Amino acid sequence: MPKIPILLDGDPGHDDAIAWTLAAASPELDIRCVTSSSGNQSIEKTTYNALRIMALLNIRAPMAKGCPRPLLSPVMTAPSVHGKSGLDGPALPEPAQAPVDLSAPELMARTILTSPEPVTLVPTGPLTNVAALLLAHPEVKARIARISLMGGCIAHGNWTPAAEFNILVDPEAADVVFRSGVPITMAGLDVTEQALLYPADFARIRAVGGPVASVVADWLEFFYQFHRSMGYPGAPIHDAVAVAWLLRPELFTGRDLYVAVETAGRYGRGATIPDPHGVWDKAPNAHVLTGLDRAAFADLLVEAVARYKEA
Ligand code: RIB
Ligand code: CA
Repeated sequence: MPKIPILLDGDPGHDDAIAWTLAAASPELDIRCVTSSSGNQSIEKTTYNALRIMALLNIRAPMAKGCPRPLLSPVMTAPSVHGKSGLDGPALPEPAQAPVDLSAPELMARTILTSPEPVTLVPTGPLTNVAALLLAHPEVKARIARISLMGGCIAHGNWTPAAEFNILVDPEAADVVFRSGVPITMAGLDVTEQALLYPADFARIRAVGGPVASVVADWLEFFYQFHRSMGYPGAPIHDAVAVAWLLRPELFTGRDLYVAVETAGRYGRGATIPDPHGVWDKAPNAHVLTGLDRAAFADLLVEAVARYKEA
């Protein structure tokens, strides 16, 4: 099977880091570039974290620092979830490379326009870089196969009752992406809050042995602390769903829907609003994931970590 060329764009972030571990361990995927976004922490911190993750996983691809703030909103971060560094917990290697001397949208555009085949974007943070790319280089749309993103929610939010964090940080960017016409797979909270890893899964990963297994298990333990305090029975590995769907779509259920992004509203800003009954008479713009085989998802992550042991 030909590899799927992908561009990773995220705000690591523990679940971004685990998603990138899955991507880097999967021979079906070809990571063409990595870009950082401002979200879980400042762009400086997420860029440093991205480079350290790439060093740990030996991801050989160009990396660019992303937009320093959302298109219109002030910077919003999530230290309560990911810690002061944005990736608290285990020690990581220092960066093995520096960001290239291009903005994230420019590196994305160059990567897309020089690729012989259409590429898939995998954003797992706020969509600022992707929106900037689409606004500055609309010609890339024809060269993007799909955007498999973590973000949004149909039933309820996590940062406000209406909005999921990635969309809320930059609703204008999300609006640009969802109205772009590029095919989207939306891994929103409806599916990602079912994508739980339990402490027994953390132990399976740690038992694999080796440095990557140890770091991933430590990331899981740290990430679970916040969620346990919120009453979750496990850690929801939100971002890894956007990668896992590319690898094993049969593990997921979903439906094609038209989804609108609310950019105004005192209570609703950042909401991703579906139109299941076609009231707005608009063709679906997203394949919205709604369910998954959790045990198989957990196995996928254990198998990915084990591949590093073999490497
Ligand atoms: O709401 C969950 C999302 O916000 C995840 O991508 C997590 O990393 C944070 O960015
Ligand atoms: Ca993220």
